[in-house]
Amino acid sequence: MSALLSLSNIWVEYGDKIVIENVDLDIEEGAFVSIVGPSGAGKSSLLRIILGQEIPTRGTILLDGQRLGGECGPDRGVVFQRYSVFPHISALRNTMFGLECEQAPLSARLFGTAHKAAKAMAMEMLDAVGLADSMHLYPAQMSGGMQQRLAIAQALIKRPRILLLDEPFGALDPGIRADMHALITRLWNDYALTIIMVTHDIREAFKLGTRVLALDKRRHDPDAPHRFGATAVYDLALRNRKDRAAGEELVAASLTPKIDANPNTKESIGHG
Ligand SMILES: Nc1ncnc2c1ncn2[C@@H]1O[C@H](COP(=O)(O)OP(=O)(O)O)[C@@H](O)[C@H]1O
Ligand SMILES: [Mg+2]
Repeated sequence: MSALLSLSNIWVEYGDKIVIENVDLDIEEGAFVSIVGPSGAGKSSLLRIILGQEIPTRGTILLDGQRLGGECGPDRGVVFQRYSVFPHISALRNTMFGLECEQAPLSARLFGTAHKAAKAMAMEMLDAVGLADSMHLYPAQMSGGMQQRLAIAQALIKRPRILLLDEPFGALDPGIRADMHALITRLWNDYALTIIMVTHDIREAFKLGTRVLALDKRRHDPDAPHRFGATAVYDLALRNRKDRAAGEELVAASLTPKIDANPNTKESIGHG
């Protein structure tokens, strides 16, 4: 089986700063890939490249065997940590917005049967993320978890094959985060998605992923910190609970001290 998404020899450089060097990654359709790594390792840059928002300085990306240029296509949807929903429109309009832009790029307004169809799809999507009863609320009237559900509905309404998540649950409380884990796992199955999720939370990465990629620098030049970029230091396939437990231990041991402490998961250090 050939890969849905194939990255080869990807480099990301900003000026003379090398952020990512030589990343190779073949992603099969249906995979749930978690990406972990210290802050500044280039995780978000890598997602932007897969999204088509940015072009790597070197290397190629193939989607279904076709070279990806610098375009965002409807086959890739994205959810960021926060602020991706529009504050001035309701949940329903937020969800419809993607379809309106696609079908009426100038006015972002649909009429008649097109409007009806878009509204029906948006209501179905809101139902799928558990917001059926909240469709008339504005984002300011919703909790952080509800806003992330809305962002997911917004991303999925265009029926992307690949869903990109950039620390989507990082700002949420642990209890809410567990609900979101159940939601994203269900959507991954129901919509036969391929998911690529960046997270700071190693436990979350191993709980949800079928594969975990850890980005980090292999080489450091103390005199020139930007000389070397991060690359894939671990690329672990997770077939069962044993793989998950062993992988989590391995990656946590090598990366934890350098990963930004997440205030929601940080354990207090015992005294005495
Ligand atoms: N557009 C840009 N121009 C210059 N530097 C950038 C740009 N985007 C990201 N960087 C730098 O690249 C590095 C990696 O950023 P990023 O991909 O956001 O890392 P991560 O998501 O892993 O924390 C950071 O040092 C950041 O400052
Ligand atoms: Mg980031």
